[in-house]
Amino acid sequence: MFLNKLSLTNYRNYDRFELETSHQVNLFVGPNAQGKTNLLESIYVMALTKSHRTHQDKQLIRWNEDQALLTAEVDKRYGPVRLSLSITPQGKKAKINGLEQRKLSSFIGTLNVVMFAPEDLEIVKGAPGIRRRFLDMEIGQVHPGYLYEVTQYQKVLVQRNNYLKQLASGKSANAAMLDIWNEQLVQFGIKIMKKRQSFIKKLQVWAERIHAGITNGREEILLEYRPSFPLSEEEDEAMLFDRFMLKLSQAKEQEIRRGATLAGPHRDDMVFWINGKEVHVYGSQGQQRTTALSLKLAELELIREELGEYPLLLLDDVLSELDPYRQTQLIETFQDKVQTFVTTTSLDSVNMEKLRDSAVYHVAGGAVTEQAD
Ligand SMILES: Nc1ncnc2c1ncn2[C@@H]1O[C@H](COP(=O)(O)OP(=O)(O)O)[C@@H](O)[C@H]1O
Ligand SMILES: [Mg+2]
Repeated sequence: MFLNKLSLTNYRNYDRFELETSHQVNLFVGPNAQGKTNLLESIYVMALTKSHRTHQDKQLIRWNEDQALLTAEVDKRYGPVRLSLSITPQGKKAKINGLEQRKLSSFIGTLNVVMFAPEDLEIVKGAPGIRRRFLDMEIGQVHPGYLYEVTQYQKVLVQRNNYLKQLASGKSANAAMLDIWNEQLVQFGIKIMKKRQSFIKKLQVWAERIHAGITNGREEILLEYRPSFPLSEEEDEAMLFDRFMLKLSQAKEQEIRRGATLAGPHRDDMVFWINGKEVHVYGSQGQQRTTALSLKLAELELIREELGEYPLLLLDDVLSELDPYRQTQLIETFQDKVQTFVTTTSLDSVNMEKLRDSAVYHVAGGAVTEQAD
């Protein structure tokens, strides 16, 4: 897919911004704190209705304004699409070709993006919650129904935990309601687990090839899904249902004592291995970074496989972390098939001659100017 036009009104430090591009590679250059990341973030928000940096939509609205408006024109395989998203402190409104979408989940995934930013290192190094968020955002782009399941699961989880706390404090002595919560929790939970399992399995196929490419065949990467209780490949939803229920009945006493749900996808994790060693424990900073990069590039291929076209690639401030050869190689590899938006503080080590169709924009204080060739 191809982003032809992007316009922002009162988004972050932009009062009004318009980008029209016909280029495969778009480079945004400028010093720190000028609005480069904000720009890529806005494209990400157009795709997922959520920022990669914050849970609080309010932060996306320009200070002292009451509404941010984002619009985009995207060429997709089957034709052009106009998108618009307005963000107010009360909520968001999304339109596709002028038609307001009743649910945000029917808007999400119209535009597809893969973002790679310095904080993605945390997917490898950080807490399990970061990996679950990664899974949710990525699976959600290709299976919009998944996000609905996640939201429903979260709601049931909160209510179930409240109920467990009441039991724990003796405010309620009747544990019969627990069966009802269990059934709902498990019903949504197994759908989430099955989708995560199959996503990771497919991602593995691409990550393997890409990682071998990046490391000249020296490193073999393995992605492992690690749910809160073991799950085999063969298990269908009915078997999983029974096992999850059994798990909950075994944990019942402990759950009531602790006032919390102890099994389920809210406790899932993922582990990355390189040459048989866990990357977050034994990997060097460089290996952790290439692991994160391989994941993101694998996703690019996976989205193409699922949707029949490549998403946009957003590279935020990651060039400087790669050596000059890798920098150019990275952009070069994808420049013919994937439209790419790159931010950097300096173009010094980018070999511009290798880039066939690129535009350079200078970003300063929320103003963007295209550099003449
Ligand atoms: N809601 C907002 N309204 C106005 N300015 C904002 C808002 N959020 C962030 N900013 C400003 O945006 C700038 C940071 O932009 P960013 O895109 O992160 O910079 P960089 O060019 O380094 O990537 C900071 O100066 C910050 O004060
Ligand atoms: Mg930045």
